[in-house]
Amino acid sequence: MKKILVTGGLGYIGAHTVVELVNHGYEPVIVDDLSNTSLNVLDGIQAITGQAITFYQNDVRDLNAITKILRDNQIEAVIHFAAFKAVGESVQQPLKYYDNNIGGLVNLLKAMQTTQVKNIVFSSSCTVYGEPDVSPVNESSPIKKANSPYGNTKQIGEEILADCQFLNTVALRYFNPIGAHKSALIGELPLGVPNNLVPYITQTAAGIREKLTVFGQDYNTKDGTCVRDYIHVTDLAIAHVKSLDYIKNHPDNKFEVYNIGTGNGMTVLEILQAFEQVNDLKLNYSIGPRRAGDVEKVWADASKAKNILGWTAQLDLNEMVRSAWAWQQNLPKNAI
Ligand code: NAD
Ligand code: WQD
Repeated sequence: MKKILVTGGLGYIGAHTVVELVNHGYEPVIVDDLSNTSLNVLDGIQAITGQAITFYQNDVRDLNAITKILRDNQIEAVIHFAAFKAVGESVQQPLKYYDNNIGGLVNLLKAMQTTQVKNIVFSSSCTVYGEPDVSPVNESSPIKKANSPYGNTKQIGEEILADCQFLNTVALRYFNPIGAHKSALIGELPLGVPNNLVPYITQTAAGIREKLTVFGQDYNTKDGTCVRDYIHVTDLAIAHVKSLDYIKNHPDNKFEVYNIGTGNGMTVLEILQAFEQVNDLKLNYSIGPRRAGDVEKVWADASKAKNILGWTAQLDLNEMVRSAWAWQQNLPKNAI
């Protein structure tokens, strides 16, 4: 099993995963419709790997195109990143999210069934746990009613995959990926005003945003700000490689889900302090009101991934915030 289709492979997590696939002897083929990225990312991937990577600009909802790509490239497994991911937008435009995230998945699975490709790694999310009763959460923790259409697409996506018994599926529930490749040639590329914490921090440090607002300091946590499990995107990328290795060695696997996090909860203020310290700068920030829909605290019990996939996070918070800033500084101003 070598030839891997990576949908959404020019996105943030996809690009880092393509690099790690090449590093570990796999042959990635990318499909991306460029709806949330730029073709420059392909240059970054190729500069890092020193290899030409096959790329198709197609929508995963195009059944004929995806079937042909699977067939022409003799694809043996798929990593499915392609989806929309903005939680707030999904509340405003739910059908846009159901259409792409569910329609895209169903379409991809039809193409896989036709071409008899049965192996898939799926991007799920810690959002399926909602506000957990206790952290760390493990894979048996309750799935709470989703608090956004986006979150619901991940819950439904997992259910669809579990129902498809012809598949060998590994679903990865990512916690909060941050940071960038150590080369600073690829990283997160938010189009417009970022929703997520770390791109907002780096853009504030770069002077693109005037000030960062910390959303609430009255939570029941050690410093009053929310707790998350931030994980380096390269560690997350390697979890996909380990998942493919697992699928290859367990051809009878049907559906398994794994938390992918470090196992450490960090507050917003701890992230800000680490960013300032490691990069030796001062951030302009103030405490504001809570953001609607935010979970107070959630972090992973990642022992299942350790025990079964043989994966653990290797990179620490210092490397996460260092690489995030190096990437921001390497970005041409007009890239945003
Ligand atoms: P991203 O937006 O950077 O990457 C997604 C890529 O998919 C983009 O390049 C986009 O152009 C492409 N795409 C979207 N719809 C497509 C379609 N119909 N056809 C072809 N290409 C399409 O997002 P990301 O952060 O890299 O996230 C990747 C996956 O991981 C998503 O499924 C997301 O929901 C999931 N996820 C992300 C996070 C996170 O915090 N970034 C956390 C948990 C889960
Ligand atoms: C992190 C923390 C904010 C911005 C989202 C999705 C989730 C998953 C990961 C896909 C929170 C605080 C943020 C800012 C702040 N994605 N914050 N000021 O909300 O944990 O999760 O991304 O599946 O589904 O909901 O990530 O980066 O937005 O926020 O204080 O300007 O930073 O309140 O505590 P979140 P985030």
